[in-house]
Formats: sequence, C-alpha cells, structure tokens
Amino acid sequence: MSSKRAKISGVGHYLPDYVLTNAELETMVDTNDEWIRTRTGISERRILKDPDKATSFMATEAAKEALEDAGVKAEEIDAVIVATVTPDYFFPATAALVQKRIGAENAYGYDMSAACSGFVYALTEGAMMIESGRMKKVLVIGADKMSSIVDFTDRTTCILFGDGAGAVVLEETDENGIIDFVQHTDGDEDCSLYQPAGGSMNPATAETVESKMHYLRQDGRVVFKKATEGMADVSLEIMERNNLTSDDVAWLVPHQANLRIIQATARRMELDEEKVMINIDKYGNTTAATIPLCLYDWKDRLKEGDNIILAAFGGGLTWGAIYLKWSKS
Ligand code: UT7
Repeated sequence: MSSKRAKISGVGHYLPDYVLTNAELETMVDTNDEWIRTRTGISERRILKDPDKATSFMATEAAKEALEDAGVKAEEIDAVIVATVTPDYFFPATAALVQKRIGAENAYGYDMSAACSGFVYALTEGAMMIESGRMKKVLVIGADKMSSIVDFTDRTTCILFGDGAGAVVLEETDENGIIDFVQHTDGDEDCSLYQPAGGSMNPATAETVESKMHYLRQDGRVVFKKATEGMADVSLEIMERNNLTSDDVAWLVPHQANLRIIQATARRMELDEEKVMINIDKYGNTTAATIPLCLYDWKDRLKEGDNIILAAFGGGLTWGAIYLKWSKS
C-alpha cells in the first residue's frame, strides 16, 4: 500500500440550456410554484431537449472542462468512472463512450450504479485506485439525464428532477486531498425508489410501456425520512472519526434532493447555512451530478486546506460521506 492520497485537480460541468420553471410545470400537472418551492426548495431545473443527445454527451462535455481545468491531457487518464442511473444504453457503458470521445486512449472505464450516492461512491473508488499506487490520474463523472426516466404526468416526481453532469480529475498527491470516506448500502426490497421495468425482472414489453413502468417511482415520504436520518448520520460519523467540530468544517457539499433534507443535515452538524453549498433552486435533483455541480459552482471560493464534507443519500438504498482537505494547486 502506498502512502499516496488523491486530490481533485480539476472540476468541470455541463448543464443543458433549456430551463423548465415551476410556472411551466403548473401548465403540465396539478401543482404550483409555492408548493414546489416550500416543499423542495426548487425553482427551476435544466432539461436536455435535443433528442440526439443523452447522458454521455453531458458527461463528455463536463469531462473535457475538468481536464482543461486540471491541465491534464486525456491520454494521461488511467480510468474513467461514470456514476449514472440513466446510461445511454445498458451496454456499452457510458464511461466507454466518454473514454472514446475525449480520447482517453490509455484508460479503461465503467459505470457506477448507485443513484444519488453515485458520485460519492465513484469518487471513493477513484481515490482508492490512486491510493493503491496503481493509478496516477482518474476521471470521476456524475451525469444523469433524469428527464429520460421521469413521468411528466406524475406531479409527485416530475417537479423534483433535472438533467446535468459534473466531473473531477483526481491526481496523486503527498499532501492534502481525500482523507476519509464512509459508505453504506441497505438493499431496498420494498423498492421505495426505483425504475420497475427495463431490467431482467421486467424486460420491455408493450404492457410495461403501457403501464409506465419505465419511469422512476418513489415513495416520497419513506425516502424523505430515511434520507434525512441517513445523510446526517453519515456526516456526523465522518466528523467524529476525524475529530472535526462544526467550526473545523469549511463546507458541506450535500446531495441536492430536497432543501429540507439539506437543512436538517446542516442542523445536526451544527453548521451555519453559509457553509452549506445549495444550488437545488436552480437545477433540482440531477442525481449523480448534484455534488460535482456544487463543487463547480463554488470552486472559486474554495481555499487551500478547507475541510470539506461531501454527503449523499439515494436509491439502493445508498448513502455515504467523504472528508477531503481542499488542495488544487
Ligand atoms: O435523491 C434521492 C432521494 N430522494 C429524496 O430524497 C426525495 C425525498 N422525498 C421528498 O423530497 C419529499 O417527500 C417530496 C418532495 C417528494 C414530497 O414532499 P412531502 O412533504 O413528503 O409531501 P407528501 O408526499 O407528504 O405530500 C403532501 C401533499 C399530498 O396531498 P395530501 O395527500 O396531503 O392531500 C400530495 O398529494 O402534497 C401533495 N403533492 C403535491 N401538491 C402539489 C404531492 N406532490 C405535489 C405537487 N404539487 N407537485
């Protein structure tokens, strides 16, 4: 085992131009701006309208920007991990398409299916690849075209999700970087958040399409309760393991599923709201992309040595947190 750490040396993003506002949703389903904003914190979200473009397109754009930000050439990348629940195809992997399009000819790549925790899971794997000493540079991407699996006649879910991608380059360092992580899984046999059809349990048929089984379904109240507990529990767990007080933490980067879940997590961590990255108002829940999109939006405000906690909860059920000390130089 080497004594190396991984640090984030570049951040990139992609957001589609089309803005789906709460006002437009009011014309599609029985909802209203006030309900959406007070129950979720969301005002608008982005939608990838172009029928010829899918998750790999957004992931590729985010990856290119991250490489440029890091000053790293695609050929230097050893591995590409794409966290997504909306891959272009079941196979080939979205990561393989990205690998080809960016010209990462020396990299292997694969997809990570861990829903809203996909990015923290993938970042953990990328960090462990580098810590092992076998890899020097890894591209970690969170990308989801949620509009491809959202039922825009279901008001309980269509108001929540948006499309987008975020990417980071991980590089070897002897100093600050990713220090610790805690990940959990608790197999959700009750399917409180899932896509019923399209897999080997319910392959696509005329009936599955007719019954809208290819759209995501969520028992919102059940997931809300578990997410509120899980995201705060794991954030406190990682603080305790690393002897961090709320004063020590510079930033919380929470998965953006619901503003009330984020605020509950911050309260349990005893963090002031100005230390919490929140952009759910603009993008909604972009699933695997929420955390890297926050890192992108805040990257110019991050300072060398800042203690940062990333925390997520999602379908699976999956949840986890990462503690990193910011160092980009
Ligand atoms: O990222 C992956 C993990 N996912 C999450 O963390 C999401 C977790 N869940 C949530 O964020 C929330 O449960 C929701 C935002 C989905 C729903 O909020 P809620 O406060 O749990 O509302 P609810 O489901 O308890 O519904 C309250 C009422 C219901 O009406 P009745 O039964 O009280 O008459 C719903 O039918 O609000 C109604 N409702 C709506 N009203 C207007 C549900 N959706 C809407 C809507 N507009 N879009």
